[in-house]
Amino acid sequence: MKDLLTIADLGADGIHEIMHAADSFAEVCQRPIPKVPALRGKTIASMFFEDSTRTRTSFETAAKRLSADVMNFSASSSSVNKGESLRDTVETIEAMGVDAIIVRHRSSGAPQQISRWANASVINAGDGWHAHPTQSLLDVYTIREEGRSFEGLRIAIVGDISHSRVARSNIEAFTLLGAEVTLVAPPTLLPPYVETLGAKVSHDIDTVLANTDVLYLLRMQNERMDQALVPSLGEYHRAFGLTPDRARKLADSALIMHPGPMNRGIEISPEVVDDPRVRVLNQVTNGVIVRMAVLYLVLSTAGADRSDA
Ligand code: CP
Repeated sequence: MKDLLTIADLGADGIHEIMHAADSFAEVCQRPIPKVPALRGKTIASMFFEDSTRTRTSFETAAKRLSADVMNFSASSSSVNKGESLRDTVETIEAMGVDAIIVRHRSSGAPQQISRWANASVINAGDGWHAHPTQSLLDVYTIREEGRSFEGLRIAIVGDISHSRVARSNIEAFTLLGAEVTLVAPPTLLPPYVETLGAKVSHDIDTVLANTDVLYLLRMQNERMDQALVPSLGEYHRAFGLTPDRARKLADSALIMHPGPMNRGIEISPEVVDDPRVRVLNQVTNGVIVRMAVLYLVLSTAGADRSDA
């Protein structure tokens, strides 16, 4: 694969291939010196046009553990502020000699567009409302490392589905692997085409909890809303937030996940964050492992894919 743009591009076989590679890199990350020469001589540009803590730092850590050189591009202090276009910016960075570009952008489709301009591999680190494939891959890895089979696994994704690239990629990944996905949200936070997504829909979290194996909470994405879609954040918390009472309705074996950053007191009560079923920091740890696998597979096969083209 030259690029990683969406989960659909990967398919179930591609997801499994990345999971197997990630198992090897998990062992590398346990070593006293967690570093291998797999990508020595490769240069990876990290181009984030939108804020990030987890994705940016875990990609950079992953690249360094594979011995690649990392070029950091900061949009907020770049010539983008002087009006330089996305195409000119990407072509300028690529002209310095990069093998892969990791890109996060507020516009859906920006990584696809960059992949048409660039010879370097392009990895989507989140584009608008559209896709966040490496978040889904680390989520799949996190569920899988608990020994859970996806066939028939009951996963409830709760919250702001409408604005969530994580939800879109996770619905694709989880259903491709055989899970039964239920989307739980008020009608105002569901997209109009929700019935085409291959998931069930519920507007009542309390009826879903007892039959859920994985509860996946989403952040309320106020920065992507141009109008109030819930009466208030307090009202949302009362109707859909994971409170201690609701956490008691979940099975002891259930997993509670969240892509971060969490809004404590909105989608999850502060007391529930420390529940032993919460896997939020496992997700972060696995982000490094899975992104090592993605970088390795993309950069070790990209040349072959280009010569086939
Ligand atoms: N989950 C996620 O994408 O987090 P960041 O925005 O911090 O990268």
